[in-house]
Amino acid sequence: MSRTIGIDLGTSTTEAAVYRDGKKELIFNPDGLAITPSAVGIDESGNWVVGERARAQYLMLPESTAIEVKRKTGTDEAITLGRARYTPIELQAKLLSYVRAYASAYLGESVDRAVISVPAYFNDMQRRDTIRAGELAGFTVERILNEPTAAALSYGLDHMEEESHVLVYDLGGGTFDVTLLEMFDGVLEVKASGGDNQLGGKDFDELLMEHLLGRFQDRTGKNLRKDRRALARIKDEAEKCKIALSDSESFHILIPAICVLGGVPAELDETVTRAQFETLTKGLLQRTHEPIDTVLADAGITENEIDHVILVGGSTRMPMVARDILDYLGIEPVHAVHPEYSVAEGAAVQAGIISGEIDPAESLIMTDVNPYTLGVRTDDDGSGDCMNVVIPRNVTIPVTRTERYTTCRDYQTEVLVEVYQGESRIATHNHRLGKFYIRSIPARPVGAEELDISFSYDLNGILKVSAVLLSTGMEKGIEIDMAKGGEKAQDLSGWKEAEGAKTWRAVIRTAERLLSRPQALPEALRGSLREATDELKKALIHGNREDAEAEGDTLRELLRIAKGGGV
Ligand SMILES: Nc1ncnc2c1ncn2[C@@H]1O[C@H](COP(=O)(O)OP(=O)(O)OP(=O)(O)O)[C@@H](O)[C@H]1O
Ligand SMILES: [Mg+2]
Repeated sequence: MSRTIGIDLGTSTTEAAVYRDGKKELIFNPDGLAITPSAVGIDESGNWVVGERARAQYLMLPESTAIEVKRKTGTDEAITLGRARYTPIELQAKLLSYVRAYASAYLGESVDRAVISVPAYFNDMQRRDTIRAGELAGFTVERILNEPTAAALSYGLDHMEEESHVLVYDLGGGTFDVTLLEMFDGVLEVKASGGDNQLGGKDFDELLMEHLLGRFQDRTGKNLRKDRRALARIKDEAEKCKIALSDSESFHILIPAICVLGGVPAELDETVTRAQFETLTKGLLQRTHEPIDTVLADAGITENEIDHVILVGGSTRMPMVARDILDYLGIEPVHAVHPEYSVAEGAAVQAGIISGEIDPAESLIMTDVNPYTLGVRTDDDGSGDCMNVVIPRNVTIPVTRTERYTTCRDYQTEVLVEVYQGESRIATHNHRLGKFYIRSIPARPVGAEELDISFSYDLNGILKVSAVLLSTGMEKGIEIDMAKGGEKAQDLSGWKEAEGAKTWRAVIRTAERLLSRPQALPEALRGSLREATDELKKALIHGNREDAEAEGDTLRELLRIAKGGGV
């Protein structure tokens, strides 16, 4: 069996690690670094660039480069690179392919299994899309692991004897996670997890950027907010400034020739002090308080019972973070693990446990929880919009719960089951994961027919829902990701697995084999072939049959020409 690696697919940076020869080991990229920027782009000759090179390209060609794609995971938002549009899944897959390639090179063997970490507060859709991205990159995704749990696992392995309550505070580039764990006798039990998947270092950069843009406009009258290249350079400098301010009291930003004013190049010249930066961004840290309170309440413990607060994520290097935690919880947090490496290392530990590389007798036992409440929409109060909880948040997973419902009208023959995730008592204020109908219910008086709805939440944090009509034993289930394309996706899902799609996958493989041998093709043909391949993949991912057929035909024709068939 091939080796399983652990991957921390971060908003800003990506790390990989492996467990071998009895220890955690970071995997280095071709630049000799363990940290790879989470950037993907297409260069001027139409080739993909990933990591460090993409990050550098972002300054010159922001319109062909994507950063912080993870923030868009779980959405259908298209990301434009040059002329083509991509889904977040496709770009995350490019990043993961890059990791797979360098991990294989580093380990000297083919790597096609991975444990990938995600923010604990990622929802069902975001988890599924992460798995899809992994698969598209050629990985078998063995497990989706919550990032703070991964960090705790890495910590736990080195502190097996400890008996304590640990709060993991993970402020990364794009997301904030907070998790409370209890450790005892080699057992690591997650009590509660919460967070904000739209809060991270990126938001600190953006507030600073906005400050710089405002100052520049005040001084020169020029608004740079629509100038993509200027924005990319200011963002880059803003992040540098933020990082520098973690060590120094002030930082001087100087960006030459940021734009042209009255025919001459103008520069952005601004000094920012740490105090200024902290005033500008203190609201962001305040947003961490509510999730902390919720997690403590859900875990049923008070601040006084916390033994350690462990800091994870690059953004916890900002001195204001530790100060804020001390102010808020009265506890001095510690950097007990490496802020950037511990999540990947923990994922590698999990990979080692799954693959048997780590002797189960000597390893930790770990349990995790679901961070969101899951339920169905019902008509309890006559408004038709109640969130009926099936699995409350922060119960240990895997978990299966069943709730019984009855028909609510005379002679009702059909029930619509809508599945929601979230904390509001009003169902539609939450996030709808999917819906399905139970049909052919025998027409009987109100309440006479009973229905059992079961929710199973697995170790990856993915939900399966099924329903049984008691009188007939009829069963119906859904895969929640149907929610994405609604009914349409449901119709097409059968087709995706059918012969048609399989044929196109074979065509894609042929095309990719050809593309991997650049000398075999004339430049112009290569470009078209690459474009058609990418388009076909996209159509397949979206389950768009019409597009797939059209793109598939184009690709086939190109292959015929490429193989010497002539135009
Ligand atoms: N010394 C520092 N001071 C302040 N911020 C820093 C420092 N070093 C790194 N950062 C910030 O940390 C963030 C990246 O951290 P990290 O690599 O842990 O995030 P990530 O794992 O990519 O994101 P996430 O976990 O949110 O998906 C960036 O916003 C970066 O600017
Ligand atoms: Mg992270």
